[in-house]
Order: sequence, then C-alpha cells, then structure tokens
Amino acid sequence: MQRGSYLKCISPSCGLEYEIGRTDVYCERGHLLDVAYSDSPSTDLKDVFYERRNPQDSIFNESGVWRFRELLNFCQIDMTDDAQCSKYLVSLDGAEGRQSKPYHMSKVAEFAGVSGDSLWLQPEGYNPSGSFKDNGMATAVTHAKMVGVKKIICASTGNTSASAGMFAANEGMDCDVYIPAGQIAPGKLSQAYQFGAQIVQVDGNFDDALRQSLDEAQNHQGYTVNSVNPFRIEGQKTIPFRALEYLGWDAPDWLVYPGGALGNISSCGKALMELHRWGWIKKIPRIAVINAEGAGTMSDLYNGEFEGESLRWNKGHPNEDLIQRYYAGLEKDGIRPKTGATAIQIGRPANILKGLRALEFTDGVATTVSDSEMLDGMSIAGLNGFDCEMASGASIAGIKKLVNKGIIKKDDTVVGILTGRQKDAMLPVDYHSDPKNRFARPPRA
Ligand code: F0G
Repeated sequence: MQRGSYLKCISPSCGLEYEIGRTDVYCERGHLLDVAYSDSPSTDLKDVFYERRNPQDSIFNESGVWRFRELLNFCQIDMTDDAQCSKYLVSLDGAEGRQSKPYHMSKVAEFAGVSGDSLWLQPEGYNPSGSFKDNGMATAVTHAKMVGVKKIICASTGNTSASAGMFAANEGMDCDVYIPAGQIAPGKLSQAYQFGAQIVQVDGNFDDALRQSLDEAQNHQGYTVNSVNPFRIEGQKTIPFRALEYLGWDAPDWLVYPGGALGNISSCGKALMELHRWGWIKKIPRIAVINAEGAGTMSDLYNGEFEGESLRWNKGHPNEDLIQRYYAGLEKDGIRPKTGATAIQIGRPANILKGLRALEFTDGVATTVSDSEMLDGMSIAGLNGFDCEMASGASIAGIKKLVNKGIIKKDDTVVGILTGRQKDAMLPVDYHSDPKNRFARPPRA
C-alpha cells in the first residue's frame, strides 16, 4: 500500500487498507473506513493557521475548513500552492466554517449552571447552508470531484440534503436526496428544492431512507455523502479544530454535541486521536453526546440500559450482537424513534462504532434530554442573540443536565456545539405563544 493518505478499516481484527480513490463507504467485510495519513503534521502549522485568519485574498484561507488544509490532505497536493488548491478543493467561495467559532453566552451559562467565563457555544448554523454539514460536505464533494463523480446521493433529516444540494449545484453535479416523507423541517426541504436536488420521498423514517439511499448508490454507482462517507468525517474535524484554535490549542474539559447518526462525535473523536498522536494537544477533552429521549440508542446502549451491559468500543472489539439485539427489539415492539427534534430522530446511528471509539478515547459520556428541555435550550440561545434549531438545543440542555448530575463541574471549560440554525419557522412562534414555556414571551394584543 502506498503511503501518504489511504483508507483503513476501523476494525483492528480486519485492518483492510485501500487506495484513497475508493468510493465504497464500507470495507468488503462491511466495516466503516477511516481516512489515514502516514505523516505527522508539524505543530509549526499552528502559526500558519493563525496567520491565515487574515486570508490575504485566498478563499482557502477564508474557509474555516480549508484553513486547516494540511490536516485534511487526502488529495495529497501541495497545500501551499493556490493553483493546486483551486483545482482540487471544493469550497463555497471560502464560506464553509468561516464564521463559526466559540462564543460566550452569559444567559446560557446562567441557565446551565456553569461559569460564564468557561462556557463556550459554537454556532455551526453560521455555515452557508445553515448547519455543520457544510464542513464535511466540502471535503466529501472534494473527494467526489477527485474521483470524477457526476451524481451524489444522501438520505437526510434535512440538513445533509440542504448542504449536499448546495455544493452539488455549485459544482454542477446531480444530487438525489432521500428524505423521510413529512418528517423534516419545511425550511430544510425547501432548500433542497431551491438548490435543484431531486427529492425522493421515503415512506418511513431516516433509518429507512438511509438504507434505501445506500442500496441505490451501490446499485447505480451513486456517490454517498452521508456521514458514513469517511471524507465527510475529515471536514467535520475542523469543528473541534476551530474550537481548539480559539482556545489557544488549550483543550477544554468537555466538547458537547447532539447525537443523531453520530458522524459528528466520530469526527471529533478522530480529530482528537490524531492531534494527540501528533503531539498537538496533551489533554484530551471528554466528549458528551446528547440524544433525544425518544431516539436514545447510544445513550441506552452505552449506559447499560439494555440487557444490563454497557456497550463499549472495547479496543475495537465491541459487542455488535448486543446492538443487533437492541435493533431487533425495537423492530419487534414496533418502536420508532420519536422526537420533535427531527434532525436527530434516528434509531440506528450508522456511525455507532466510530462513536463508541470516540467515547472510549475521550472517556466520554452519553445521555438524553426531553423535547421540552431541548426547546428551552434552543430558546435561551435565542435570548443571547444566537439562533439555533431544536436539535442544537440538546447541547445546552445536555450541559445543564450533566452539571446537575455533578458530571460536568461548575468551573469546567465546556464547548457546546450548536449544530444548525432555525429552519422550522413555527417552532419559536409556538414556543413563545404558550406562556407555560419557561422563556416564553407571548405576543401582546
Ligand atoms: N444537529 C443537527 C442540526 C443535525 O442536522 C444533525 C444530523 C445532528 C445534530 C446529528 O448529527 O448525525 O452527526 O450525530 N442531521 C443529519 C441530516 C442526520 O440528515 O441532516 P450526527
């Protein structure tokens, strides 16, 4: 196998490696893949990345993804050469990740019960399509372009389809999006139409839509851009990169994410594993993943709420039968994932194994929050002048819950990721119209 960059199966007992141009998202035994790099980027790049915050006419410096391009160099190009960057790297004129960085939010801190100086929230809704997905879509579509793809495919609870549609339109590619009919926010659906994507309505939930889209990609040579695509995971590493950079590469105690298909915590875990191996960080922040109560697969399994066994990555030997029995149980009892936070209404998180690996590496935790807690979290961010969607409210509600349980300490440094902006216009209207809601400000007659 040539070195540089390559694909590697995540399962140590399998260990298969592939050329970087492979487009199947699984190894031939059905495991997820990682993008692997054989070099260790020098920590001198920290200064280069900082200097690029003055972009000096380069969209790749402006981009919050490609600013860190030496740490994502799966194309194996000279990242200091603008002409090569322009030829290979896909960017929405530098807009992906450009405006997202950690901010203090005093009212959120008060609500969550932590010190305002040590709580940071990172609004990924500031991305051009309005969610964190643009970080990973820039890199996945870069790989698609590198291997000559004409059509990208995804299943989505809404944000992935908006992001995929946007990048496809910009690159002149076709884009098919499989969505659970009637279960995505109208603002997300309208983006997919607006960007000219072909909508495929699936009679079922996200898990059904993903299954169908993966079959379609396999049978008709479509290129999957869901987070099972390892190149998506590469771009999403820049979410923690930006957080760490703004904190002077001084790792926080916690990084908190909502959990759906678990691509985001998988990429955060991979980013931290690499940075630690390369000597860029000494301390390893703990990841907290927050599920919706009605879609709590990771939390249930991780916390031993199913068959009394706490599921662990177990150095690459997780009890996969336990996962299958959990899914079979849901099927048998007719239990479907159910939450108003449709973005994370997912029962079978496709990245569960990478997610477990991330939690093991970081001594992470998983928990759940209720719909009303998420709505309060979403609303208090709004009162701080930041707009986020209900699923993102899970980060805030999760921090509050973990503080109450004494797991997050009052003075711990915490970065919560606000994954997307509000695309369900009636949600805040309904919330504020009901005076019983904690932060409601009902209209005056
Ligand atoms: N927050 C938002 C706003 C999302 O759209 C998603 C996932 C998540 C959190 C969960 O992230 O899947 O990496 O654990 N949305 C996907 C989609 C599934 O299709 O847009 P995850």
